[in-house]
Amino acid sequence: MTTVQLILLDHVVALLGVASWIASGVTAALRRSRLALGLFGGAVLVTLARVATVAALSTRGWWFAQEKVLLGLPMLGVAGLAAVLLAGPRLLAARRTPGEALPASGLVALFTAGFAALAGLAVTFLAGYPLTWSTALVAVAAVYAGALLAGRVAATPAAAGAEASPAPALSRRRFLGVAGGVVAVGAGGTGVGLLFRAPASVVTGGGPAAAGGGATVSVTDLRGPGTPAAGGTTVRHTLTAGTGTVTLPSGREIDAWAFDKRLPGPAITAAEGDLIEVTLRNHGIDDGVTLHWHGYDVPCGEDGAPGATQSAVTARGEFVYRFRADQVGTYWYHTHQTSHIGVRRGLYGTLVVRPRDAGRAEELDLTLPVHTFDGTVVIGDQEARTVHTARPGASVRLRLVNTDSVPHRFALAGAAFRVAAVDGRDLNQPGEVREVELRLPAGGRYDLVLSMPDTPVALLLDGDRDGGVLLTPTGDAAGPALPDTAGWPELDLLRYGEPAAVPFDVDRADRHFTIVLDRGLAMVDGRPAFAQTVDGRGYPSVPDQLVAEGDVVRYTVVNRSLETHPWHLHGHSVLIVSRDGTRFTGSPVWVDTFDVRPGEIWEVAFRAGNPGVWMNHCHNLPHQEQGMMLRLVYDGVSTPFSHAGHAG
Ligand code: C2O
Ligand code: CU
Repeated sequence: MTTVQLILLDHVVALLGVASWIASGVTAALRRSRLALGLFGGAVLVTLARVATVAALSTRGWWFAQEKVLLGLPMLGVAGLAAVLLAGPRLLAARRTPGEALPASGLVALFTAGFAALAGLAVTFLAGYPLTWSTALVAVAAVYAGALLAGRVAATPAAAGAEASPAPALSRRRFLGVAGGVVAVGAGGTGVGLLFRAPASVVTGGGPAAAGGGATVSVTDLRGPGTPAAGGTTVRHTLTAGTGTVTLPSGREIDAWAFDKRLPGPAITAAEGDLIEVTLRNHGIDDGVTLHWHGYDVPCGEDGAPGATQSAVTARGEFVYRFRADQVGTYWYHTHQTSHIGVRRGLYGTLVVRPRDAGRAEELDLTLPVHTFDGTVVIGDQEARTVHTARPGASVRLRLVNTDSVPHRFALAGAAFRVAAVDGRDLNQPGEVREVELRLPAGGRYDLVLSMPDTPVALLLDGDRDGGVLLTPTGDAAGPALPDTAGWPELDLLRYGEPAAVPFDVDRADRHFTIVLDRGLAMVDGRPAFAQTVDGRGYPSVPDQLVAEGDVVRYTVVNRSLETHPWHLHGHSVLIVSRDGTRFTGSPVWVDTFDVRPGEIWEVAFRAGNPGVWMNHCHNLPHQEQGMMLRLVYDGVSTPFSHAGHAG
């Protein structure tokens, strides 16, 4: 069973537990003794099953089970045991005398077990990992308050029938009730108070704390060089961001936010060693705009992260980005301000850097950014199938870029091919594959290379046989009947290509950070929200991760939630170490975005070699906006920009 299946099973068992305990209490109160006994038996069995599902979950990783083991099950165990002792014998006896009332203590115990089960479930869904004292106090207080309330209701003569206590006992009970209420409110209040405690502002991952005292460099000083490398030239662009209607070649009109009124924005291409100089202007994006060079390890001051490396460019403002095209490969750019809206509406484009040596270039080289506008999927600027002619034997490179917030599935029909590069970085000896599905994470890129056969080749996106890209040796657009690619297996990059040396020992990290992704109640930008959380917190309350230049840094990224999180670190590519404990056995894979699917645990590592203050976030951009973001900060680097407000 996969971890996510176990998570789901545990949710179902937990829910059954809540339902059966409460139902046994309700039926007992209604004096349906037989039914109550049956439900009670069911509740006990479900509770035992829950112990098994939680035990199984904890073998997959403590992150998945901590709050259940330390709080949910103990609460349920205590309340369930009380119910067995207080209600069990009477329910069994009532089989022979149906219609007889259960004593108030038995009823209260049954309901309290139900409340405890419910509180455990609420803790899992609203607080999750890591369990805090505040959460535990609030949960225990809530269950206690529920028990008191049930006690008050059960003690009324109508509910307790002939067994109602005489007056002196009642007043003693009232006193106990008031005292108990004070305790419950006090504990709950303390818990809520702790919630708003200021969190630790930095974590060090087991490495030394900030050296302190010394001079710091500001991100504003970490800028790119002013000249190209020897033999390179300067590639200049001015991009103007604005709003308006953009008409696609198909005639479809898109109410867009766009660079230079184009969707996608102008393609930026350069040769290795060139200087890229882009002037950004803003004519009408009220929230402001920046340019982030996704996957390109630019100097930090060029990174385009508002609140970290610059302020967003506002109306009529301007910012000039300059960096050397030292890495070849397929990248993209996008705004990083209110990006969950800006990128979706069109503020993105591609960045491709080709080797200076033209002899390494393919005959046909297509850059294919995929984007979804209000349900319309476009490749490049085309929503219909596009046709390209390639002579048989020609070398072809297809650069797939996923600019959406969710993964896309690609299939290449009609030819064997290689995945030459992932996220712009070449793989080592990638083998030929055919009839496999490629799943491209949000923000990710794959370069496919193939030798054109003398028959047509089709690139299909998400199984759509009408769209995509057709390569034909004859220029005949009619195309072949396309195969059904639905059953093709997914290519697993874990075992693709050949191993090669990597520049550091992944098992000797100087710092090790764990990033646990989930949903829960948390503060996001100063407001309480049902957030997308990192270690139970939302941006900017997630502590910064501190590193020193030269450190080998390891991340363990755990997904406790039921959604995929494409994790993206700015300024560095990371080497994938393992997924769910299984080491990568193929080519080293360096990525800037990796999909952590529900229940998965990924280990990645990188060398801290690009000083700065870097955003580190989920590239499902609405998730980022809902809090799933933090910062990686180098010791000795400071930023004058505040991450308050407009953080996305
Ligand atoms: Cu492509 Cu922080 O983003
Ligand atoms: Cu996410």
